[in-house]
Amino acid sequence: IVAFFQPKRLAGKRVLVTAGPTFEAIDPVRGITNLSSGKMGFAIARAAREAGANVTLVAGPVSLATPRGVTRIDVRSAQDMLQATVPAAQSADIFIATAAVADWRPSSASDQKIKKDGSGKTPQLEFTENPDILATLAKSARAESGALFCVGFAAESHDLESNAQAKRVRKGVPLLVGNIGPATFGADDNALLLVDAKGTREVPRASKLELARRLVAEIADRL
Ligand code: CTP
Ligand code: CA
Repeated sequence: IVAFFQPKRLAGKRVLVTAGPTFEAIDPVRGITNLSSGKMGFAIARAAREAGANVTLVAGPVSLATPRGVTRIDVRSAQDMLQATVPAAQSADIFIATAAVADWRPSSASDQKIKKDGSGKTPQLEFTENPDILATLAKSARAESGALFCVGFAAESHDLESNAQAKRVRKGVPLLVGNIGPATFGADDNALLLVDAKGTREVPRASKLELARRLVAEIADRL
């Protein structure tokens, strides 16, 4: 009922969202991952749908219900997420990267479960850097021509404002959104810092759905 009365500011637009963590295998039963519930990304997908957009949600491993009317693609690793996201971006107008992508993956995953050999010796892992999905799309021809509006999120543990502005420039995105601490993982509310070329602005603490609706409105203002 609430959604019914909201203006359809993204009618006719295609929105692509990444959400949740990625999982990088060590062996068939183990891996490394990031802390992320996926709640913010799912709320953004829902808010974009409410605003009339056609929404595709590329989700890492999370336990959340798909928002009504949203097309969901489930992935596991960062490489899987890139593979699902790049083709979907070909027809998108807006890309919102909320996923907590693992920055590194074990260089080679073992086909078989690694067993303790009884000596107390621990496995030595080597890592390879994962592709940067947001930076890849932000540097694509469609983004550079203005056809694809890219929005990033920043997970920072300190100096949010300066780190977020530097990250925005480094990633080449017009809008970057910072989570204002303390750590918000899994929580139902949050406060956001919007960082663009003009500076920074705070969106005060509210539910993730309310913040998602505000963010969608901010993006619609900038199209
Ligand atoms: N991101 C991505 N692919 C990656 C890493 C990050 O798409 N391999 C996206 C995230 O979804 C987020 C933004 O980039 O929207 C910033 O992620 P963050 O982890 O804060 O930045 P990094 O560039 O990875 O830098 P660092 O973790 O070292 O601070
Ligand atoms: Ca990172």
